[in-house]
Amino acid sequence: MKLVLASESQKTERDLVTHSAWGVSLTVEGYLQRERRLRAQRWAHAEMKTWLLCADDGAALASCETFRMDSFLRAPDGAFAQGDSFGIASVFTEERLRGRGYATRLMDLLAAELERISPRAQSALLFSDVGAPLYQRSGYRELDAWDWSFAPEPGEPSERVDRLLSEKELGAALARMRHPEAPFFLWPTADQVDWHIERERIYSELIPRPRPEANGAMAGESTALWYMMSRYSALIVAMFDARSAEDATALLSAARRVAHRAGLSKVVVWEEPGMGSLLSQVPGAVREARDGSLPMLRPLRPEVPLSPATPIPRALWV
Ligand SMILES: CC(C)(COP(=O)(O)OP(=O)(O)OC[C@H]1O[C@@H](n2cnc3c(N)ncnc32)[C@H](O)[C@@H]1OP(=O)(O)O)[C@@H](O)C(=O)NCCC(=O)NCCS
Repeated sequence: MKLVLASESQKTERDLVTHSAWGVSLTVEGYLQRERRLRAQRWAHAEMKTWLLCADDGAALASCETFRMDSFLRAPDGAFAQGDSFGIASVFTEERLRGRGYATRLMDLLAAELERISPRAQSALLFSDVGAPLYQRSGYRELDAWDWSFAPEPGEPSERVDRLLSEKELGAALARMRHPEAPFFLWPTADQVDWHIERERIYSELIPRPRPEANGAMAGESTALWYMMSRYSALIVAMFDARSAEDATALLSAARRVAHRAGLSKVVVWEEPGMGSLLSQVPGAVREARDGSLPMLRPLRPEVPLSPATPIPRALWV
């Protein structure tokens, strides 16, 4: 068995088999279109690779994707070294081949390959929908996974914030946000956040539905970015930096009003360390253990600390 990078035609062949796992709300043609468009998006085009575990005769046994991201590791002198972390997505073994250790083998070979090809490799990150044990075998450890959800509310979205943000302002919005106070963290680029918004664009075309009127808001020094996931009828907060409970309430009020006008049923924020006390003061806040998308991290070098409190904003999800 060996690990290989998929060719363009192999990627399409994998799309045809993974439709059963990730494309059920779309026709096969719609799913192929979604995958083609997502791969062409700027961030994915630059940073995404599709990997195959192949038998000796070349047959594909399992597959997954990696997305390179920027991560930051604090050195003993306090300075941060920028490195590469890899989001791992779409781990898949065809039903007829399951239970033979192929996904585990793929994950093991992949981690070794990432360490080999990237001298700056710091970690691999995935979001498990099948619990922790499968990935624990390959050295991944689960991180904290709590969601805060908020009901939509009627009203003018811009009323309580300085202004709403459009999809064209992601870079400026990210530049206003504070980096986490953690010895190790990952931080998305504007193109990476745009990849989530590209999903919003694609789904609103394939399953016609108007897009929400804004993709974020600013209140004082505080900033939020969000996108719609129509499948969950939710407005998902991708990045959230609130400097006070008042700002958190104002930003979420804008999100709740945008969600209400878009006919969505909730706003969801992924909890990051230190955020809980602010969010708990927002009227109507509900905290729940996350269902699926369990973040799991595998250091790719020994200095990277493996803390369950590693901050993982939703923008890092792949
Ligand atoms: C999950 C998946 C990739 C596993 O592939 P595989 O080649 O069978 O994996 P392995 O043989 O290495 O390991 C199998 C283990 O995964 C576990 N597993 C598989 N699917 C699972 C699920 N839905 N929930 C919990 N555990 C699961 C099995 O229990 C098994 O554990 P065991 O050996 O102790 O019985 C495959 O089932 C699949 O493609 N599923 C559909 C897509 C998917 O959900 N991908 C994962 C997204 S995070």
